[in-house]
Amino acid sequence: MVPKKPHALLLWMLVCSGGSTEAIEPISTSIAVGMAAALTGFLATYPNIFYYFNECCRPEWISLNKTALVVGIGATLGRTIYNYLHESCEPKWIALNATGLKVDLDRKLFGQHIASRIILKAVSGFMSNDNPKKPLVLSLHGWTGTGKNFVSQLIADNVYKEGMDSSFVHIFTSELHFPHASQLETYKSQLQQWIKGNVTNCAHSMFIFDEMDKMHPGLIDSIKPYLDYYDKLDGVSYRKAIFIFLSNAGGESITQTALDFWKAGRDREEIELRDLETLLSLAVFNNKKSGLWHTSLIDKNLVDFFVPFLPLEYRHVVQCAMAEMIVRGHQPNPSVADQVARDVVYFPKTERVFSVKGCKTIESKLDYYL
Ligand SMILES: Nc1ncnc2c1ncn2[C@@H]1O[C@H](COP(=O)(O)OP(=O)(O)OP(=O)(O)O)[C@@H](O)[C@H]1O
Ligand SMILES: *[C@@H]1O[C@H](CO)[C@@H](O)[C@H](O)[C@H]1NC(C)=O
Ligand SMILES: *[C@@H]1O[C@H](CO)[C@@H](O)[C@H](O)[C@H]1NC(C)=O
Ligand SMILES: *[C@@H]1O[C@H](CO)[C@@H](O)[C@H](O)[C@H]1NC(C)=O
Ligand SMILES: [Mg+2]
Repeated sequence: MVPKKPHALLLWMLVCSGGSTEAIEPISTSIAVGMAAALTGFLATYPNIFYYFNECCRPEWISLNKTALVVGIGATLGRTIYNYLHESCEPKWIALNATGLKVDLDRKLFGQHIASRIILKAVSGFMSNDNPKKPLVLSLHGWTGTGKNFVSQLIADNVYKEGMDSSFVHIFTSELHFPHASQLETYKSQLQQWIKGNVTNCAHSMFIFDEMDKMHPGLIDSIKPYLDYYDKLDGVSYRKAIFIFLSNAGGESITQTALDFWKAGRDREEIELRDLETLLSLAVFNNKKSGLWHTSLIDKNLVDFFVPFLPLEYRHVVQCAMAEMIVRGHQPNPSVADQVARDVVYFPKTERVFSVKGCKTIESKLDYYL
């Protein structure tokens, strides 16, 4: 573990900040020198101390021996440093901001009233449970460009201080990480080792499997034990981890339902989860091309929530364009947004209701109009 910040700064932080100030002021120079030596010894013993500056997760700190610390450098300072470090670890780097997640889902995610609701409930329920029985497993389904990766990012942003850059968030893409079907056996053991290693480091790890429908069924089977109701596997508990699967599986049946509502002149917001749930599981089950189909992920009920993403309409494309202008620091211009949305292709051919690529190309399209 290589510290990113200089030792001097670290010592300054430990000794000069917070409650420890009064504790050391009346102490003579020789004691201070002795203390510095003790601290140096402590630093050598506990290199994890650098996680104060780098991202850290609680299990690292459980190994911090409070008794040894107090014996080594004295009760007051020892206890102060211990508490200081302990409190600054997990809650500092990993803690759900439920309000933040709600605000983000309400303001940044367009046209996904069902997904919004399920995700907020699922994630806040899971994160507020100190003793979950199994890891949280979400499977997000829907047409291309409807916000599946985007939502994963919103979740990560509101759970990890570092968001998607957190070293506890891991994304796997079949095309990138597991491209050759012939190397399946290697991939299987590699993936299992990765998951085990990362969860050992941090119970609150998050794993995102993108393009799950392109993932080899054998590979999906190999992660099944981690998703199940086990107290521990080989001494490691996976129950605080979050697994998110992204796929287009079921996207067509979700779109059909949305189109039926549209044709019947009904509000999109009237679509409820139960209108899609059965359809979705049938579509995922019966699609032989989909990796999910073969596996017992579904029939063993290892997926806690199937989350449908609706296809996006003209008005959502306009919203995406407006949001993108704000992100770029431009004054949001409705007529530009309108123009962008007008140049997007919609389907079905006759009705032209849903954007073929969702909001996916808006970001690059906007370059032509600004
Ligand atoms: N519902 C939405 N609300 C707001 N922005 C969205 C939405 N859907 C997509 N976007 C925007 O479009 C971009 C691409 O969407 P995203 O990558 O999440 O699509 P996806 O559902 O993962 O598609 P694919 O199935 O092709 O992977 C996002 O980064 C986001 O900026
Ligand atoms: C902590 O340190 C004390 C004193 O050095 C020692 O007696 C004790 O066994 C240690 N505990 C653990 C869990 O390592
Ligand atoms: C949680 O999110 C809200 C809304 O984005 C923000 O105002 C608040 O500061 C966040 N709280 C923490 C502890 O980060
Ligand atoms: C954690 O996962 C990453 C892939 O995201 C992998 O490269 C790394 O080796 C894993 N860490 C451990 C300790 O297994
Ligand atoms: Mg995607």
